Amino acid sequence: MRFSILTLFPEYFESPLKCSLLGRAREAGLLEFDLLALREFGEGKYRAVDDRPFGGGAGMVMMPQVLEKAFEELAKRTAAAAPKPHVIYLSPQGNTLTAARARELAHKPHLALLCGHYEGIDERAIEEFVDEEISIGDYVLSGGEPAAMVLLDAVSRFVPAVVGEGSSVAGDTFERQAPGAPEVKAALPEMVPGGLKAPVYTRPRSWRGREVPAVLLSGNHAEIARWRYAQSLERTRARRPDLLEDLKG
Ligand code: ADE
Repeated sequence: MRFSILTLFPEYFESPLKCSLLGRAREAGLLEFDLLALREFGEGKYRAVDDRPFGGGAGMVMMPQVLEKAFEELAKRTAAAAPKPHVIYLSPQGNTLTAARARELAHKPHLALLCGHYEGIDERAIEEFVDEEISIGDYVLSGGEPAAMVLLDAVSRFVPAVVGEGSSVAGDTFERQAPGAPEVKAALPEMVPGGLKAPVYTRPRSWRGREVPAVLLSGNHAEIARWRYAQSLERTRARRPDLLEDLKG
């Protein structure tokens, strides 16, 4: 799967795209990243990318002709035979990202992530180039870059083979499908589908007077699954009752 990122700050992405899961997936050829520096498409000596808003008001607005050039460059970098990228503009005005939408987006062969800055992007450019506007939550970031990184990470985890054997997205918080083979799933669900996961522990068994729950040391897998399911239900009820309501609906 390919991600093209259109940003004023390409350097923002350098380290996160090299690290950990994403770095390994890139090396394995599962993911491909391409950065387009919007400043290169700016106007005049100072490569201006923004101007004052018509009608007045605070801040600056990204100019449509700058984005036009950036999307022309994106088209050049996309092989003629390849499908057109699905263009996402990260903004607080978008639909909120969910695990379900991230899973759907992982089926697209090419996503282009447009990061805004300042007051936003001229609406005509959004109408012309953007397929979908996505927010990562009800708060305002200083720019779209952290949001693009969050989306890219969440989507990549659903790309086949990015999350390796031995771990799986099926047992993740918010996933409605339990991990394991169907017969194991049915017999021993370890979490409420679509809910929060149970807490996890590792060595030492005793730390600062706090003990690992005895059931996890018992070796009784049925008991462990029951305990995890109960913890998952209790946590989801206490912290995110909305998720249980969603399940009913
Ligand atoms: N840009 C600024 N705030 C944002 C948010 N909450 N989600 C996506 N993009 C943003």
